[in-house]
Amino acid sequence: MLSWDEFDKEDGDLAKPAGAAATVVDMSLEKLDKDGNAAAHEARAVSDSDSAAVARAKAALDQLDIAEGLAELEGSSARVAVDEKRMINCRADLNQLVPFKYDWAWQKYLDGCANHWMPQEVNMNADIALWKSTDGLTEDERRIVMRNLGFFSTADSLVANNLALAVYRLITNPECRQYILRQAFEEAIHTHAYQYCIESLGMDEGAIFNMYHEIPSVAKKAAWGLKYTRAISDPQFNTGTVETDKELLRNLIAYYCVLEGIFFYCGFTQILSMGRRNKMTGVAEQFQYILRDESMHLNFGIDVINQIKIENPHLWDAALKDEATQMILQGTQLEIEYARDTMPRGVLGMNAAMMEDYLKFIANRRLTQIGLKEEYPGTTNPFPWMSEIMDLKKEKNFFETRVIEYQTGGALSWD
Ligand SMILES: [Fe+2]
Ligand SMILES: [Fe+2]
Repeated sequence: MLSWDEFDKEDGDLAKPAGAAATVVDMSLEKLDKDGNAAAHEARAVSDSDSAAVARAKAALDQLDIAEGLAELEGSSARVAVDEKRMINCRADLNQLVPFKYDWAWQKYLDGCANHWMPQEVNMNADIALWKSTDGLTEDERRIVMRNLGFFSTADSLVANNLALAVYRLITNPECRQYILRQAFEEAIHTHAYQYCIESLGMDEGAIFNMYHEIPSVAKKAAWGLKYTRAISDPQFNTGTVETDKELLRNLIAYYCVLEGIFFYCGFTQILSMGRRNKMTGVAEQFQYILRDESMHLNFGIDVINQIKIENPHLWDAALKDEATQMILQGTQLEIEYARDTMPRGVLGMNAAMMEDYLKFIANRRLTQIGLKEEYPGTTNPFPWMSEIMDLKKEKNFFETRVIEYQTGGALSWD
């Protein structure tokens, strides 16, 4: 491991000019700028050993206009005061991460990194044997595995694309952007996980990945989500008017509350129920990790939506509240239809009617999380074990294959 003591010992003479210990070192930006500039200027001088190409590169840099170059940056050029930071339409410099305004966003970024995992770490041997056996799974159970891998293999790409191509640019806060980058990477890991399952099981990859074009219950969910990306992914789209700010809010509600908050839940419940019955335990373990990530994505999205509402109360008018309620109800209805399609009969100790109750219970949660009233009063949760799985911090993996509270792979070591 490198240590600064060693550094001082070996390079001490070079690092410390004579008598430096006794003087107070001037580390002001002005002093650093003056010294640095002189050294940089010297390096720019063309020498005899420079080739014509190197000389040309140095000369070209003489033309570099710093003010003009930095003018491209979003936000002002001043040091950032925390009060200037805003979730949307912020004028403060977005490249300066601190001072933090939204500590919860930074904390979620740290938590996301601490929960890092990779699909190849999950043992898929038992799943491969079970999938290839002729009598290990019923036709209904196979249908559930195929439908869900079909839906999820493209759904996470839709979420990732929405983040990277639309949302990232429009959320004008660096700590939230830091989390969005982490989330986008996690979505890539999720797509990787589905690909890994599909490949391990030797499925027809083309058929599974193209399912969102071919199977109506899957296609409807994808089409519903994409409708809300269309406007804001236009490079010309900008927030700053009531209508465009509302459009961004609609997108966030569609993706965080409905896609990640409702559309994932029938499939997660089915696959995790399979794992609880000791079937397809590798696929179920992958889904378990994904669910843990997704519940953090959802909570982040809810916090962002609510913060935008706090900072822009005029956006959250009766019309938008009604629209948001309708969006969540439409999403719930599509997920109920997906539950019927994937479970034409009772399977794995559940059926479509129980799933319908569960989805209504989830929809009530999504509505109240963004300050709307419940639309399915009195609904209870028929799958309380799902809530337990979502908080996995100190839980052992319920298949007891290993402890899943692991941190990042390892600290850097120079040994
Ligand atoms: Fe995901
Ligand atoms: Fe997600």
